[in-house]
Formats: sequence, C-alpha cells, structure tokens
Amino acid sequence: MLTRRPGGEPFKIKAVEPVGITTRQQREEILRKAGYLQFRIPSEFVYIDLMTDSGTSAMSDNQWAGIMMGDEAYAGCRNFFNLESAVRDIFTYPYVIPTHQGRAAENILMLAMLRPGDYVLGNMFFDTTIAHIEHKGCIGEEFLIPEGYDTESEHPFKGNVDVERMEDFIKKNGASRVGMIIITITSNSNGGQPVSMRNIREVSGVARQYGIPLIFDAARYSENCFFIKKRERGYEDKTLPEIAAELFSYGDGATCSAKKCALVNIGGFIAVKSKEVYDKCLQYLVLFEGFPTYGGLAGRDLEAMARGLRQGLDEAYLEDRIGQVAYLARRLSEAGASVVTPPGGHGVYVDCKKTLPHLEMDKFPADALSVALYLDSGVRTVGLGTLAFGRKDAGGGWVFPELELLRFAIPRRVYTDRHMDVVADSMSSVLKDRGNIKGLRLVKEAPRLRHFLSTLEPLP
Ligand SMILES: Cc1ncc(COP(=O)(O)O)c(C=O)c1O
Repeated sequence: MLTRRPGGEPFKIKAVEPVGITTRQQREEILRKAGYLQFRIPSEFVYIDLMTDSGTSAMSDNQWAGIMMGDEAYAGCRNFFNLESAVRDIFTYPYVIPTHQGRAAENILMLAMLRPGDYVLGNMFFDTTIAHIEHKGCIGEEFLIPEGYDTESEHPFKGNVDVERMEDFIKKNGASRVGMIIITITSNSNGGQPVSMRNIREVSGVARQYGIPLIFDAARYSENCFFIKKRERGYEDKTLPEIAAELFSYGDGATCSAKKCALVNIGGFIAVKSKEVYDKCLQYLVLFEGFPTYGGLAGRDLEAMARGLRQGLDEAYLEDRIGQVAYLARRLSEAGASVVTPPGGHGVYVDCKKTLPHLEMDKFPADALSVALYLDSGVRTVGLGTLAFGRKDAGGGWVFPELELLRFAIPRRVYTDRHMDVVADSMSSVLKDRGNIKGLRLVKEAPRLRHFLSTLEPLP
C-alpha cells in the first residue's frame, strides 16, 4: 500500500477556487471539440491542471496584502524600491530592471550585450532563450553533461555544464566570439534539474579567465538553492539566502521569470553588476516595456513580486514543494509509469516510449497518454514528444525526437497531496488497460507550432 508523505503542507487555505468537475461523457465531448489538444481545453473543464508551473502559483495573504499597497505612480513608485531591495538582498547585483515577464528580460539583456554572430554558451537553453539568441543573429551552443540527457541516470546535478567541453569550444573558436555564457537554474528543458555550486564556480572560473560575462537564467533560483543545500557537501548548514548570495556572486547578472520561484502570476526582471550594461538595457526597456521603475508592470505587481521573491526562499515551503514533486514521482512510478529520475524541481516527467512500448512514435504516445488521463479524471498534462518536437524530412517522413515525455508540472502552493493521489490513481487505472491506448493521428497538421494548433483524433 502506498504511504503518505510525512508532515503536511506548511500553510492553511484561506480562499478557495472551485475547479471543474465533469463526467467522463462530458470529457469525451470536450476532447472531441478540442481536437484532442490539451491546449484547446477551456480550463473550467480541467479538474487538476498540471500543464505548467509558470504563472500558476497561489499567492500568500501577505502578497495579496501587498497588492493593496500598489503605488501606481508613473515614476518612482515605492513598490519598485521594495523590489530593488529584495533583488539586491538575494541576487547581490546592484542594478535592477523590472520587466513584464522572463522573455522580455532576455530580449532586453541580449539586445544590450550581444552582437550579431556571437556565440552564446550554456547548459541547456529554454525555448524563449534560444529563440532570443537567434533573433539577435547569434548562435546558441549547449554543453550539458551527458548524464543530463540520460532519463535513468541518478546524477544529483543533471543540469551541470560540461566545463571541459565548453572550454575547448572557447579555445577553438576564440573568446572574443563568445558574447555570454548562460547557466539556467534549474535546467527546465531536461526536467528542472539542478546545477551544483561547484559546477557554477568552475564555469565562473572559465568565464573570468576568458573575459566572458556569466549570466544566470534564474527562473527557478530557489529550487536550485534548495537542491544544493540537500545534495552538495558543505552546504547542509548554510541558509538558503547564504547559498543564493554565493551562487550569484559567481556571475555578472541574471534574467528572471518571476512566474516560477518568485510566486507571482506575472512579472520578471534583469539584475546586473555593471552600470554600463544597466544603462544600455534602460534604452531598450523604455522602448519595449516602459519607464525603469515599472518595466511593463503595475505597482501592485512589483510589490507582489518583491514579497514573493523572499517567500520563495523559505525552507519549509521548499521542503514541501520539492517533497510534493518527489511524492508524485514515486506514486506515478508505483502506478506503473516509467518516471525520469531523479525528479527535478518543478514537475515529474514520464518516459512514454517505455510506458507505452506498444505504440510507435508516429502515434504520439505522450499525447495519447495525456488524452487518456484527461478522459479518465480531468487531469491536464502536456506531451513533449513527437507532436511538439518531431520534424519532417524532405520526403515528408518523420524525424523523431530522442525523447517522448509526458510532463506533470506542479503549480506552487496550489494542490494538496490528495490531488496528487487522484493523478496517480488515474494513471494506475489508465495503465491497467494500457493496451487499449491506440494512439492518435493528425487530422489537420498546422504548418508551424504543431502541438498548439493542429487537430487530432484517436486511432481505432
Ligand atoms: C528557464 C526559463 N527561462 C525563461 C522562461 C521565460 O519566462 P516567461 O514565461 O516569464 O517569459 C521560462 C518560462 O517557462 C523558463 O522556464
């Protein structure tokens, strides 16, 4: 029998949001109307929404109180100074620029720092990061350690950079051609996997030796700091703010989507050490986001972000959060799913090639499992496999991606372990009849953004 996680949630619930309870028959109709695409299902028909952890956090009473303290002055609102002080305390960088979300921060910092033709090196770029690198006429090169690509490796820091390979690249191509190094903490694209302090220190050594700026993509800064405390020798007795301060001291700046670890529904920022970079950013900021003390956000949003940033580093909260991800991973695995190990910071990934071995890749196993789960229980997940990343060769044949994953991203402070039990029980009932999952086929294939815009139907 499955055991419950020790302890309980470190919060009590003050406001509730009813969720969509539907019958199986209704869900059949909803799926048909949505063309079997999770993105087209109206959220009122979703019982447990594990599509993303971004912008889906529950804010605390303290943050909601902060919303009422919004100072909506065009220039110099007090909430900006509160944000600036929170970022300076945690990130240690003196210059702070708010933006409306993470990708806007990437756009502005890259416009300020990169020249067309530059290389940008990193562990693994998030989709918008590589898109912005290419938008600036630059080339992104990834140097994730091999264990990071292995869904069964138990390496504790699968977001680490292969420092030797990165340094070889710099030597071969010349440091002057490298515009920046970006370390994404945690590495979203391979499952929210953390980067160790030692690895960050080593990358920083290389960056300094060759005079290359080191920037953090810090969307999940607090989850990465928590993993360092739990998994890296020498950090067990340090506080999370101490770990964050050391980590960021090795870099020159950061972009941050505050929609993750900073526990807000919208917001982001840039923080840098250099006054020169800051001044350049401001010119683009005014063009794209707004005046430097609001950066595309209302004063109330800045206040919620300032408060959320500090709350994001609360140890009891992180213990519960990371514990819930691990709990769901264990329960899904007990339900018969092949789970990527170790689970990362923000969600659980199921390897659908192994979980549904009877389905060929052109039957979209990850999305087929996603549809089966929604039909069974109203749980929404997102497929990251052939439908999203498969390419076509010149003859129209499939070039399949390496991985066929189903992601269960867990919003922060939103669901209880009982919700996680519903998800795992649903997986268990779906997998009992896994042979009945016949796969999907494309009825209308969108020329671009296939997984957002196409129409599918189940195979008989
Ligand atoms: C690692 C990482 N960087 C950047 C972004 C972009 O942030 P936003 O969605 O706030 O624009 C995301 C969003 O998911 C992310 O996960």
